[in-house]
Amino acid sequence: MLRSCVVTAMISLSILFSAAVRADGPIVIKFAHVVADDTPKGKGALLFKKLVEERLAGKVSVEVYPNSSLVGDADEMQALLDNEVQMLAPSLSKFDKYTKKLQVFDLPFLFDDGDAVARFQRREKSRELLRSMVNDNIYGLAYWNNGLKQLSSTQALHRPEDAAGLAFRIQPSAVLEAQFNAVGAKPVRLAFADVYKSLAAGVVQGAENPWSNIASQNMHKVQPFITESNHGVLAYMLITNGQFWNKLPFAIRSELEGIILEVTQAVNDEAEALNRRDRDRILAGGTSKLVTLTDAERQAWREKMLPVWKAYEDEIGADVIRAALTVNRRH
Ligand code: LMR
Repeated sequence: MLRSCVVTAMISLSILFSAAVRADGPIVIKFAHVVADDTPKGKGALLFKKLVEERLAGKVSVEVYPNSSLVGDADEMQALLDNEVQMLAPSLSKFDKYTKKLQVFDLPFLFDDGDAVARFQRREKSRELLRSMVNDNIYGLAYWNNGLKQLSSTQALHRPEDAAGLAFRIQPSAVLEAQFNAVGAKPVRLAFADVYKSLAAGVVQGAENPWSNIASQNMHKVQPFITESNHGVLAYMLITNGQFWNKLPFAIRSELEGIILEVTQAVNDEAEALNRRDRDRILAGGTSKLVTLTDAERQAWREKMLPVWKAYEDEIGADVIRAALTVNRRH
């Protein structure tokens, strides 16, 4: 009697559980970002969706919201913390509120090139930074790279003095603010979604972005000059809500981690080619004139901006800056 009661109870429970699973359907990951689909990050998000839906079909589905269409710079982090979205990939310049150490990526003229940035991201110091916001429930999954930033403007910028008095749009980063202050320009914090219209309306006269963001937002159409300065980097941290992530069934989380490794590799391998393609497209379009710096001119920008390293050394940590410097070949 007792045995049959237990069996009946178990059967009812399992019916209940499977009904719950059916009612709940697959786990949904909402992945929001602020750029266009045809950019390193945009393509990465779509590749992530494709691989997840192939390999975890029926278990996990991914909804990608590009172009600040669900949440943007102002509200995306809160949305992640509220578990309204489960994945974001904000630029490393957008984490000031949570950690100062990531500001290392904003230091001007720190990295020789994109490869150096990728090398640094594989080092222990960078890996530690992925976990630097866990107490805020922000869990870093990977670094995704876009590329080196160029200076676009209404005026030809050859020497740092050429930027004096011009207003430049910046991301919300104290280091970027200091970088533009160092050349006598006026930094203005604006959300990415507002950059094109602010440039078009003349609210700001310049900006800094890799070619892929300039092209996909049509910034070049309102910026007659682009100085190929390669003065800084634009890189992202793929992040998730820590509680959401830890509650995922182990097998699903492991599969997602494998997919993230694969997508990260693809994004970082392809970013440079995408930027080259967009550089060619912009220059072929003829809306913007390319300003190429001589070695002496580039050195002049570097010298003006270099004091920013010292000013932020305490906040970032001398050890972190030193670790970043060692990845350059000339070091
Ligand atoms: C910006 O605000 O300029 C960038 O962070 C946008 C992006 O995500 O590439």
